[in-house]
Amino acid sequence: MDVQQAYELWSASYDTDHNPTRDLDSTVMVQTLAEQQFAAILEIGCGTGKNTSLLAGVGEAVTAVDFSPGMIAQAKAKITAPHVTFQVADITQPWPTPTAAFDLVTCNLILEHIEDLDFVIGQASRALKPGGRLFICELHPFKQYLGSQARFTQNEQTIFIPAFVHHISDFLTAAAANGLTLAALNEWWHAADEGKPPRLVTFLFQKNDA
Ligand SMILES: C[S@@+](CC[C@H](N)C(=O)[O-])C[C@H]1O[C@@H](n2cnc3c(N)ncnc32)[C@H](O)[C@@H]1O
Repeated sequence: MDVQQAYELWSASYDTDHNPTRDLDSTVMVQTLAEQQFAAILEIGCGTGKNTSLLAGVGEAVTAVDFSPGMIAQAKAKITAPHVTFQVADITQPWPTPTAAFDLVTCNLILEHIEDLDFVIGQASRALKPGGRLFICELHPFKQYLGSQARFTQNEQTIFIPAFVHHISDFLTAAAANGLTLAALNEWWHAADEGKPPRLVTFLFQKNDA
């Protein structure tokens, strides 16, 4: 099953399944972005809109993109604010978004499914205004080395969604190659992770001035 088919199937239960990684990601977003304000935000891989609600509160205009119509439908059912626009698009193809138009691009729990990191980070850089920021929150590669991979259970069958390991240095190299400077790197643990490797890693990059 490919990534898109898997998320179509998962969309109905994504919000209600037991998923500490999803829950930690929500906490990370609140701790990192809840006190800030942005004019224009682009959210990549918005899924069921778990983070779109928060972004709608800190952004004057939010564009939320995902390639799963099922996930987008869940998000649209929750978020009806007129300053939030949803778009169905595949981020492995040239993005249908304007150039140098966004103050913040966010990307949560999606790059695990993307083989070509450099292309996606390049598109994010193109979408950002000079000085704009790219926030990435992903499954930590340490967890991937230990076998963690996006998965869900349906009809008593566990479905593993195709995934790629990106090392910390891969993110830093792709960002630097695309005109982005690292502003912050953090590692995050869920309450259930005591004594274990970090579950999530976040990067905040800033687009260099032209
Ligand atoms: C684990 S979910 C995360 C959703 C949301 N960001 C969150 O944190 O809850 C990953 C999302 O990425 C989307 N996705 C995966 N590959 C994609 C691609 N190539 N283009 C657009 N969306 C993609 C999936 O459809 C899914 O909604």
